[in-house]
Amino acid sequence: MNTVKTVRELRAAVARARSEGKRIGFVPTMGNLHSGHVALITKATQRVDFVVASIFVNPLQFGAGEDLDKYPRTLAADQEKLLEAGCSLLFAPTVEEMYPDGMAGQTRVSVPQLSEGLCGASRPGHFEGVATVVSKLFNMVQPDLAIFGQKDYQQLAVIRALVHDLNMPIQIIGEPTVRAADGLALSSRNGFLSEEQRAAAPVVYRSLSNIAESIKQGERDFPALISAQLQQLEAAGLRPDYLEIRHALTLRPATAEDRDLVILVAAFLGTTRLIDNLHLNLDTPV
Ligand code: PAF
Repeated sequence: MNTVKTVRELRAAVARARSEGKRIGFVPTMGNLHSGHVALITKATQRVDFVVASIFVNPLQFGAGEDLDKYPRTLAADQEKLLEAGCSLLFAPTVEEMYPDGMAGQTRVSVPQLSEGLCGASRPGHFEGVATVVSKLFNMVQPDLAIFGQKDYQQLAVIRALVHDLNMPIQIIGEPTVRAADGLALSSRNGFLSEEQRAAAPVVYRSLSNIAESIKQGERDFPALISAQLQQLEAAGLRPDYLEIRHALTLRPATAEDRDLVILVAAFLGTTRLIDNLHLNLDTPV
């Protein structure tokens, strides 16, 4: 597996693969890779002949006071994991390579509606930063398909929308969230948790599961379900940011008649913000 740092080298390597008739898959990441990322690479290797991963901690998607500076950078360990998973090429650009003219005048991509509410409400500008960097990366790599984790449910919806709206010929694939044995969704930010916080963290997924279970049993008083689980999160020492039931495709607030639902949560454990979600389609037999 080669690692390249410039757009020029990236384009040359991808062009070589294309000239050999290979289909290109792409897995964008911010590094500090865990089994969830490895699952995305593995999925890509099953679908295409040439898998490109990127590692770039994108300043444009971090707000003031967020964890940009302390976001873990673990390039050597990441390279090993990518190699082992069958990745063909790693693109690991610098901030200057991605934003050669600085970020202030950078053309932005914004996806209205889907970017509003949920994480968009508490992290203003976040999805614009994500949509912009993902659009740039897509133009640089020009993959046939790209794979993202479903843990970032709203992000995946935003990316699907931008690809559709900007007529990009890229297939977007969402892969199920990889969880620890106790249910906690794997995340690079889990490493920030103290031992005590890590022990409390599985309550996030338990809350989602409790709501899903009640809905499956026929309960449709969504505010009551939410309120009970907010209390559970708080009792475990978390500070909920949001806990909501939305329509799985449009992300509008769910009604009692909706059959395709997603329950989404963000909550702070100390200064670490955890997100998770659970997709519940009442028409799909379990
Ligand atoms: O999910 C992430 O790791 C990032 O938001 C992404 C998609 C790589 C864009 O920076």
